[in-house]
Amino acid sequence: MLTDRDIAAAATEIRAGNLVAFPTETVYGLGADATSGTAAARIFEAKGRPQFNPLIAHVEDLVQALQIGHFDPISRHLISALWPGPLTLVVPKSQACPVADLATAGLDTVAVRMPDHPVATALIRAAGVPIVAPSANRSGHVSATTIAHVREDLGPAVSVMLDSGPCRGGLESTIVQVVEDEVFVLRPGGTTIEDLSHVLGPSVAITAGHVVSADAPSAPGQLASHYAPQTPVRLNVTTPEPDEALLVFGPVETHHPGPQLNLSEAGDLTAAAANLFSALRKLDKAGCKAIAVAPIPDVGLGTAINDRLRRAAA
Ligand code: TXA
Ligand code: MG
Repeated sequence: MLTDRDIAAAATEIRAGNLVAFPTETVYGLGADATSGTAAARIFEAKGRPQFNPLIAHVEDLVQALQIGHFDPISRHLISALWPGPLTLVVPKSQACPVADLATAGLDTVAVRMPDHPVATALIRAAGVPIVAPSANRSGHVSATTIAHVREDLGPAVSVMLDSGPCRGGLESTIVQVVEDEVFVLRPGGTTIEDLSHVLGPSVAITAGHVVSADAPSAPGQLASHYAPQTPVRLNVTTPEPDEALLVFGPVETHHPGPQLNLSEAGDLTAAAANLFSALRKLDKAGCKAIAVAPIPDVGLGTAINDRLRRAAA
């Protein structure tokens, strides 16, 4: 049995930017402080073969959800009937959204869910911040439904494992996004289409699959769209042009006349990951001809950083 002291100890780790495995009604989550880019970077690092997929922000109550996102009337209707439960809503970020840029992979939307599990709720409450959590498995493995799976897959990367026995659902949450009064099911899961249509009635269209719009182009094999700056991006640049904005990494000295940012002067890839999307946004606003990006080592989180940069440059 988990005690209040176990929860308090786990919450302390969350606040320190470390990772906690915790149960939800669907699968075990690999949790971190949603407001910290560095903590989110640790999640991607721990999952192996790192990729910056946007994460779900788990909340303890409606108040916390409303701080994070803008919920349209249909989304509100769904959550009033189906939360807490295995239903995740993708909504536009609120103006003062506390969720870190890396956790949402730089998108203007955020995925929010209120899990139906006393341990998850107690942990979020004790931590005092929303908790971002992907399923607690290594990349490419199936989602973990017991702490033994989590230990096998992620072991040492996790500071605390809250063991609450096998998860009751076993299937991840259903992810929906409402666009222009139509409900798109981005991922089928614990909440069925029948559950959704029972709540919404026949007048609301429910469509399986990706949202296709200028802002959210669907990419094969990928649920979420990708953050792309308006300004063209050039990669592996060693000699930037004077009218370009420059993004560098590590302890380098530049004599660039235009705007420039360093992802991590110390050459720390975790810090660089945490800074990536906000740096791109800032340089995008500089109004330069292009964003020139210096080479970034292709190891560890560098692989995911380079993957996102290639997409931004495509
Ligand atoms: O049941 C669950 O949802 C579990 C438990 C731990 O809560 N979590 C989970 O997280 O399955 P994860 O990271 O394995 O899957 C989250 C999915 C990803 O496919 C991601 O692309 C999508 O949610 N997602 C997150 N934010 C999104 C956004 N803004 N737009 C579209 N898709 C998003
Ligand atoms: Mg997963």
